Order: sequence, then C-alpha cells, then structure tokens
Amino acid sequence: MDIISAATFLYHFFTGRAADAIHAYLNRSLPPLAAAALLFILPPYLFIKLLLFAFRSAFSEDVAGKVVLITGASSGIGEHLAYSYAKRGACLALVARRENRLTDVANIAYQLGSPDVVVIRGDVTRAEDCERFVNRTIDHFGRLDHLVTNAGVSPMCMFEDCPDITKLAPVMDINFWGSVYSSYFALPYLKRSRGKIVVIASAAGWLPAPRMSFYSASKAALISFYETLRTELGSEITITIVTPGLIESEMTQGKFLSKEGRMVLDPQLRDVQIGVMPIRSVGAAAEEIVKGACRGDNYLTEPAWVKSTFYWKVFCPEVLEWCNWLLLVAGTEISERNALSFKILELTGLKPFLYPPSVQFPDLTETSR
Ligand SMILES: NC(=O)c1ccc[n+]([C@@H]2O[C@H](COP(=O)([O-])OP(=O)(O)OC[C@H]3O[C@@H](n4cnc5c(N)ncnc54)[C@H](OP(=O)(O)O)[C@@H]3O)[C@@H](O)[C@H]2O)c1
Ligand SMILES: *[C@@H]1O[C@H](CO)[C@@H](O)[C@H](O)[C@H]1NC(C)=O
Repeated sequence: MDIISAATFLYHFFTGRAADAIHAYLNRSLPPLAAAALLFILPPYLFIKLLLFAFRSAFSEDVAGKVVLITGASSGIGEHLAYSYAKRGACLALVARRENRLTDVANIAYQLGSPDVVVIRGDVTRAEDCERFVNRTIDHFGRLDHLVTNAGVSPMCMFEDCPDITKLAPVMDINFWGSVYSSYFALPYLKRSRGKIVVIASAAGWLPAPRMSFYSASKAALISFYETLRTELGSEITITIVTPGLIESEMTQGKFLSKEGRMVLDPQLRDVQIGVMPIRSVGAAAEEIVKGACRGDNYLTEPAWVKSTFYWKVFCPEVLEWCNWLLLVAGTEISERNALSFKILELTGLKPFLYPPSVQFPDLTETSR
C-alpha cells in the first residue's frame, strides 16, 4: 500500500466509512495485482489446458447408439449437425416447424448410418411444445444423451427503423427462451445419462454488428445463461457453448426476420451485411461442432479464426464499433447499397470466392416456408 492509498484508507476509516475505505483501497491496488497474477497464472493454466485438450481428444465420446435431440434441424447448421451425428451412428430426434423438411433430413440421416430417427414438429417458443418433444424422445428411445439447441432466427433492421417494436420480440422467444425451455425439460434426463448440452450461440454475442442488435443481445444472453448454468451444475453435465462465425445456411442466404416481423429473403441486404467476410461451408462446420461436443469442449468457435475478434473486443472495443460503423452504417441513410462493405464486395468481385454456391444462388422455393 503506497502513501496516498494508505492516507485515503485512514481518512475514510476514521470518518466512519469503512466500506468506502475498502473500495478506495481495492480500486487502487487490485488492477495491478490482478494483472500480475494473470501473467503468473497464464503459462501453467494454458499448459494444463493443452494437456486436458489432448486427453479429451484421445478419449472423445463415441455417440454410436446414443440419442441426440436437435432443434432447428430442418435446414442449415441443424440439418448438417444431424448428418454428422448420423455418420457416427447416433439415434436422432429432429425438431422444427417445417415437418416435410425434417422428413427429408431424416431420410438422408438413415442413409448416412443413423439406426433410428424420429421427426417431431415443434415450435420452441412454446414451452409445452418443448416439454412434448423431450417427452416424445424419451418415450421412443428411453434416454437422451445430447441436446443441441440450435433453432434461431436473425432480424435485420436498424433499431430506429422498426415500425412496431413488439414485432421483434420473437427473436428473444426463439433464440433465448427456445433454448432455455428445451434445456429445462431435458435436464433430468441429461443428468441421468451424464449427457451434454450443445448450445449454438454466435460470435455476434460479442461483436456489435449494426442491424443485428436483437440478435446479438439474444446470443449474449445465451452465452451468459449457459455459463451460469455450468456453474450451477458443476461436472454433472457438459455444456458446449458454440459461437459460429459466418456459416452457409438459409440465414446467410439472406433469410431474415424483417422489421415487420415476417421471414423474408433479402440477398442484397445479406451482401451489405456480410461484405467480403468468407462464409464457411456448413458440412465442414457441422463436423467440427460435433467433434468439439464429443471431446467435451466448454467453448468452441467455428471457424476458429473468429475467436481472435474476441480479443479485440476485450482490449479495444471502440475500434470494433468504429470499423463496423464505417463499413456498415456510414452513408446508408438513403440506400443500404451505399454501405462501404457492399461497395468493396462489388468492386473486388470476390463474392464467388468467399460465398459457397448455395449462398450465392439461394433456391427460393426450397427456402420458403
Ligand atoms: N449461419 C450463420 O452464419 C450463423 C452464425 C452464428 C450462429 N448461427 C446460429 O445457428 C443456428 C442455426 O441457424 P442457421 O444458420 O442454420 O439458419 P437456418 O438455416 O435459417 O436454420 C434455422 C433453423 O431454426 C429453425 N427454427 C426457427 N424458428 C423456430 C421455432 N420457433 N421453433 C423451432 N424451430 C425453429 C428453423 O426451422 P423451421 O423454420 O422449420 O422451424 C431452421 O431449422 C441459429 O441459432 C443461428 O443463430 C448461425
Ligand atoms: C411429460 O412427461 C412428464 C413425466 O412423465 C409428465 O408429467 C408431463 O405431463 C408430460 N408432458 C407432456 C406435455 O406430455
């Protein structure tokens, strides 16, 4: 304790404000102490983590014959997670609202090696639906090993431009509550099997992308919720929080929740929003996610390079905010096409190299509901 902090401490102490004195002391002394402790702890911590990673990789879970429930399995990431689990011989319960699409996914999953697949129509915003699809899974298979909460939608609109703010409430209902409801009803069965929850959150949970305020908020809520649940549960069940970057799916084809609250396909707004960021093929991404889940990772970012944006967020958040404003907001008052990100995409002609074919040429009839 230096002279000044000692004097402040004594002053507060003798004027009868002991708590203030303690805060004044901690404000001064804790930041350097914490930084020093971190430097000291980080090398052994990283080393132990590396050892544990090698151990978890070597003894990765074999999901053959086990039971996996996936929400939002009718397209995109959820669909391909189903295929990756099927290739490993897992039994599947597939949930979404478009039952016809789920049946197609189930048929492919059978061909890829899944011994048994059930298709359950359900809307994750309805708690009773979530209870029902968990029950159906248990009635059919008698157990549950992995719950993958993947169902999600993305609104795409500046906050000020929303004509009726209540129309955006479903984002939270689907992305956040849908995941929480499913987890709540599945938890007793997952504890019995010492199973896993795989949460599909998003790197948007820490990246401040304009037009995606509600999406980012819903994903940040998921990350925070499941970190807390992990703390409550200890090692009883494993929770893998997945934070994807940009992945080929109906969402990156440009299927958004419009500001009027309807699902629309707007590939041009998608171009503005994504610009020259490369989009990862969904098959490869799903394979990495299932591998990470079986390994028992606590966190998984796919593609892995997106994780570096997290360090920018921690150390210089203003830089990220300013870059995103410059690329995605500046000059768009009249038309979104004026966004710098869109101009760069058009001028460089890089789209064919950065976007997978299914995203460049979305099949409108396939995508519609
Ligand atoms: N693609 C990306 O770049 C990216 C990046 C980060 C995170 N994510 C996350 O990945 C997850 C999957 O999205 P995706 O990219 O694969 O998009 P997608 O192709 O649009 O898939 C979304 C899935 O969610 C289902 N769904 C939507 N609302 C639902 C509801 N109320 N009840 C039940 N199911 C519902 C949809 O099925 P129905 O319409 O048939 O119900 C569909 O199967 C989402 O949580 C998304 O936020 C995606
Ligand atoms: C689900 O199963 C539980 C326990 O068997 C039962 O109490 C509950 O009523 C069931 N719920 C639904 C929606 O089927």
